Formats: sequence, structure tokens, C-alpha cells
Amino acid sequence: MGMLKSSLAFLVLALAFFLCFIMSTGDGSYDYFQFVQQWPPTNCRVRIKRPCSNPRPLQYFTIHGLWPSNYSNPTKPSNCNGSQFDGRKVSPQLRAKLKRSWPDVESGNDTRFWEGEWNKHGRCSEQTLNQMQYFERSQNMWRSYNITEILRNASIVPHPTQTWTYSDIVSPIKKATKRTPLLRCKQDKKTQLLHEVVFCYEYNALKQIDCNRTAGCQNQPAISFQ
Ligand SMILES: *[C@@H]1O[C@H](CO)[C@@H](O)[C@H](O)[C@H]1NC(C)=O
Ligand SMILES: *[C@@H]1O[C@H](CO)[C@@H](O)[C@H](O)[C@H]1NC(C)=O
Ligand SMILES: *[C@@H]1O[C@H](CO)[C@@H](O)[C@H](O)[C@H]1NC(C)=O
Ligand SMILES: *[C@@H]1O[C@H](CO)[C@@H](O)[C@H](O)[C@H]1NC(C)=O
Ligand SMILES: *[C@@H]1O[C@H](CO)[C@@H](O)[C@H](O)[C@H]1NC(C)=O
Ligand SMILES: *[C@@H]1O[C@H](CO)[C@@H](O)[C@H](O)[C@H]1NC(C)=O
Repeated sequence: MGMLKSSLAFLVLALAFFLCFIMSTGDGSYDYFQFVQQWPPTNCRVRIKRPCSNPRPLQYFTIHGLWPSNYSNPTKPSNCNGSQFDGRKVSPQLRAKLKRSWPDVESGNDTRFWEGEWNKHGRCSEQTLNQMQYFERSQNMWRSYNITEILRNASIVPHPTQTWTYSDIVSPIKKATKRTPLLRCKQDKKTQLLHEVVFCYEYNALKQIDCNRTAGCQNQPAISFQ
């Protein structure tokens, strides 16, 4: 009897672990999307080990990636079990557009950058966006609002010494998109450099929603845009 009881307990425990395992590796679990755009000069400024392949980084916001995301677990999901990147699924027309909107500003191999983003992030939402849709949707998101222009119209342009508060930068973007973006910065010595602007989208990646300010640029020191 005791034997039966303990093996039953063991079975229940094993089942619980198994379910936990399934759920932790489960694909397709995410709450929303983060569409991340980056300011190339900041990428290159903080990249000290190997400089950017192009010594004159682009002066407009480019795509970093479209990331299915989980509210309670900010680093998840990633590296899911979906299909691997297949460059043939990016049509020549789209490829030409992506070379402008989604270049690899660091090492210069655009295809490798797209491959990395799809394999790490895109695969985790493959049930919503297949590979072709993933890149098309990202291109459309990039085109929907021009952050570089929105900021320029608000007199926020690259400057060696001028600084801005978090809300100085968020306000014009929020006004244009009617949604709250998230700003991400990189620290370079004592300077906090604007690096990324994140737009959030609901589960189907169709409707933009407010981002929660969970992490991002600090309030101090003021933000530099160079
Ligand atoms: C988010 O992550 C948590 C913790 O890993 C997990 O329990 C939850 O199921 C995930 N939610 C979604 C919608 O993926
Ligand atoms: C962020 O916003 C979403 C939807 O508005 C909400 O479900 C979530 O709990 C919020 N909080 C955090 C810390 O993510
Ligand atoms: C991924 O999923 C497929 C089909 O569901 C399965 O055949 C394959 O073994 C899985 N691979 C990994 C690494 O889990
Ligand atoms: C760029 O990356 C792709 C995909 O990883 C690879 O197949 C190709 O050989 C790389 N090209 C160069 C010039 O390194
Ligand atoms: C935004 O404007 C800049 C400069 O005016 C341009 O180089 C860039 O391609 C535009 N981006 C989008 C998303 O249209
Ligand atoms: C920036 O201002 C110009 C001139 O007023 C206007 O035509 C353009 O639509 C504005 N761009 C954005 C993205 O707000």
C-alpha cells in the first residue's frame, strides 16, 4: 500500500514536471509584439571592439526587429521551435525594401541579420505570421510612421551637447501615433544615448497599443541624441 502510494506520488510529480517543461518550451506563447527601431549612430558609437562596417552610419531609424513578447517574462519567448530562416521566402522586391529599412548597420551582412532575428524571435510567433508575413509586416510598420521626421519636426535632431528628457522625446511620437512608445538608451561613459524606439502591437500585430514603461531610458542623466 505504502509502495503504491509513493509510486503514485512519484507519477503525479513527474507529470507536473513534464507539464512545466512543455509549458516553458511551448511555442506560440506571447502576449504582444514589440517593434524595435534603432538609431544606427548609437549602435556604432558603443561598438568598440569591432567598428561598424560602414564608418558613416545611416542617419535615420532602421528596424532592429519584431519581437513576440511576454508581459511577465521580458526575455521570453526566444529561440522557439519553428521553421528556420529561408532566404528564398523573401521576394526580391521585399529584399530591396528591407535593405533600406532593415540593414545590418554593424557588420553589414543584412541577410544574416534577418536570419538571426527570425530564428531568435520570428519563429516564436510563426502561427500568427509566417516568415513572409513577418518581414512584410515589419516593413509596413516601419513605413507607417517616420520617427526620424517626427523628431525632426519637434526640433529633436542629433546634437553633440543638447539633451532631452524622456517625455520631451516621447511626446511628439505619442502625438503622431496616438500610442505610447518605449525608449531604450545605451550608456556611453557618462552619456545616456537614445538608441531605440519601441512600438507595441497586440497579439495579431495589426493594431498598435501602448507600451508599458517597464525598462528603458533612465530619467537621469538627461537623454542625448547624437
Ligand atoms: C509568459 O511567461 C510566463 C513565465 O515564464 C509564463 O508562465 C506564461 O505562460 C507566459 N505567457 C504567455 C502568454 O506566453
Ligand atoms: C502592461 O500592459 C498590459 C496591457 O495593457 C497588462 O496586461 C500588463 O499587466 C501591464 N503591466 C506589465 C508590468 O507588463
Ligand atoms: C520541433 O517540433 C517538431 C514538430 O512539432 C518536432 O518534430 C521536433 O523534434 C521539435 N524539435 C525540437 C528541437 O524540439
Ligand atoms: C551573409 O550571411 C548569410 C546568412 O548567414 C550567409 O549565407 C552569407 O554567406 C553571408 N555573406 C557574406 C558576404 O558573408
Ligand atoms: C524617414 O525620413 C528619412 C529622411 O527624411 C528617410 O531617410 C527615411 O527613409 C524615412 N523613413 C521612413 C520610414 O520612411
Ligand atoms: C513634418 O513637417 C512637415 C512640414 O510641416 C510635414 O509636411 C510633415 O508631414 C511632417 N512629418 C511628420 C512625420 O510629422
